[in-house]
Amino acid sequence: MGVIRPRGKGDLVLLDRLTIRDVELPNRVVMAPMSQRAADPTGRATPWHLVHYGARAVGGVGLIMIEDCAVAPEGRGHSGALGLWDDDQGDALRPVVEFCHDQGATVGLQLGHTGRKAFADEADPLDPVVGATGEPFDAASHEPRALSDEEVRRLVGAYGQAAARARRIGVDVVEVHASNGYLLHEFLSPLTNTRPGPYGPDGAERVLVEVVAAVRDAVGPGAPVFVRLCVDDLAAGGWRPETVTPVVESLRRAGCDVVDAAAGGAVDGASSFDRPVDFTGLAREIRTRTGVPTVVAGGIADAAAADEALASGACDLVAVGRLLLENPYWAASLVRPGAGT
Ligand SMILES: Cc1cc2nc3c(=O)[nH]c(=O)nc-3n(C[C@H](O)[C@H](O)[C@H](O)COP(=O)(O)O)c2cc1C
Repeated sequence: MGVIRPRGKGDLVLLDRLTIRDVELPNRVVMAPMSQRAADPTGRATPWHLVHYGARAVGGVGLIMIEDCAVAPEGRGHSGALGLWDDDQGDALRPVVEFCHDQGATVGLQLGHTGRKAFADEADPLDPVVGATGEPFDAASHEPRALSDEEVRRLVGAYGQAAARARRIGVDVVEVHASNGYLLHEFLSPLTNTRPGPYGPDGAERVLVEVVAAVRDAVGPGAPVFVRLCVDDLAAGGWRPETVTPVVESLRRAGCDVVDAAAGGAVDGASSFDRPVDFTGLAREIRTRTGVPTVVAGGIADAAAADEALASGACDLVAVGRLLLENPYWAASLVRPGAGT
């Protein structure tokens, strides 16, 4: 069914299949989650999403990772963000998932909550901005309201419910978003978590571990769970690959199969868009130190770089973002003439 044919002699490692739990990915190319700002005002998918994801599925991507979908209304980063806190939102995404499957792709979906980095814009005047603490991200950001411990517990449940919803519409892989300075990362990072109580710095990983356990429970034993984890805060006093290892081990025990090794975003001026980041090196560090399979979260310039990352043992999958925005058929173009069957 898929556009990319089975690997032939001399072909790229990138085109190897990979089985994780009960899901067989047709190749190692992941479409990186990329928010499209194209949802309707209620967070439902629109024809844009069918065309956008559908084109990359036709174009041979092995795992389409649907962009960050908010697990609660105040978790949307902006008024064009997708949500998955109700069944109607799931119904709107179902045709996207089905179409991608029909093209031979597998489908993942990222669950997130933008936390204090949300833009409370005119389209969403009623959504409050909430965070782990009452500290705004920067001088231009809204002042968040710190979530109570009880609200945090409810949010953990919301991740589980959204994950179950994703599975009901046919999603194969659920990814928990814990990077970019969004809510789960804000709780995790020593740079930002100054709240008192059980979800404070002493239990920095607690929310994320509880979320992953809830998601694992909701998706069942056959479905892979990925975590897009900030493994380098790109700032003094923050996480580094060598210090984040115990967090990765806790996540694995909670049911995480794969770490999508991201960086930065917790504090102002420390974003992976502000400076070059060796994502392949980060994935390698995590995979080597913990044995947990990894995804290179970005920075892949071409097929040779992707293949080298895989062949060298840095990672098991490569996420490709902007390259796929420029060329939806990039993955299909990797098939060498005469290769496969
Ligand atoms: C337009 C755009 C939207 C993005 N939205 C998300 C998102 O929803 N979730 C996420 O984890 N990362 C998001 N990212 C980051 C990408 O997933 C990826 O890590 C980043 O673009 C680096 O990969 P690249 O060098 O292949 O583009 C976004 C990036 C872009 C360019």
